[in-house]
Amino acid sequence: MSIETCNLQYLRSKTILVTGASKGIGKALAEKLLDLGNIVIGTSRTLDDLKKISERFPRNFYPYSLELSETDQIDKLIDFMDETFEKVDVLYNNAGILGDITNLEDYNFEVWKKVLDINLNNQFYLTQKILKSLRKSNKGSIVNVSSSVGRFPRETWGAYSVSKAGMEAMTDILSQELKNLNIIVNSINPGGTATKMRKEAYPDEDQSQLPTPSDILPIFLYLASDDAQETGMKYNAREYIGSL
Ligand SMILES: NC(=O)c1ccc[n+]([C@@H]2O[C@H](COP(=O)([O-])OP(=O)(O)OC[C@H]3O[C@@H](n4cnc5c(N)ncnc54)[C@H](OP(=O)(O)O)[C@@H]3O)[C@@H](O)[C@H]2O)c1
Repeated sequence: MSIETCNLQYLRSKTILVTGASKGIGKALAEKLLDLGNIVIGTSRTLDDLKKISERFPRNFYPYSLELSETDQIDKLIDFMDETFEKVDVLYNNAGILGDITNLEDYNFEVWKKVLDINLNNQFYLTQKILKSLRKSNKGSIVNVSSSVGRFPRETWGAYSVSKAGMEAMTDILSQELKNLNIIVNSINPGGTATKMRKEAYPDEDQSQLPTPSDILPIFLYLASDDAQETGMKYNAREYIGSL
């Protein structure tokens, strides 16, 4: 099985958690998964943005207000999912923040800790807590949304780069530890995509020249499908544009 032969018609009726579903890549992903007929729990801090998705998908979308920097809120999310769903099939660790773009010498330590907490520490916490539900799936998948600066750390990208490098390491370790279970673990580098975060990083860029969040979804969708058997892989979403 491969992305070339994957039929999205069979990607339905799965229970899928998408963090950062209120905007950008997470929103496009949540809406596409809902279009296909899956159940999606979408989290973010701004419930109002999530409620707009609920208007289109009142039955299958579960908007959930989550401040990822708070582990007690993650505990409550896990309790909610345990009470509501028999299992979880797919976790997209997608939410993230950019932090400062500056040399390490000048990097604000409070911002550093916040970026590491949101982009790495608490995504680890969420992943660890959700494993019990993923184990109940016939085919579990964890997708960690990374970045090119996580694979090739780059000057001035500071805590963001370090957090994504940590995400890559977590992907490697977890994929090995879960290799005898039915749970695959992979990372995706979206590549420059027209979103709010990209605008924050490159304010002067013309975003009309960039792929949109919808354009880059094929590899995200493939990794949720039963066809995907690969684990411990590092994907570049741009290479799969137009594949599905
Ligand atoms: N766009 C790119 O070019 C690009 C390139 C490489 C990697 N990425 C990665 O792709 C992922 C999605 O990025 P994006 O470009 O779609 O960004 P975005 O448009 O800024 O969306 C980020 C999402 O994360 C959520 N979020 C931020 N802080 C949060 C917090 N403290 N608690 C809970 N949720 C929080 C936001 O929701 P609220 O603000 O409503 O809470 C939003 O839904 C990120 O992991 C990013 O690092 C993006």
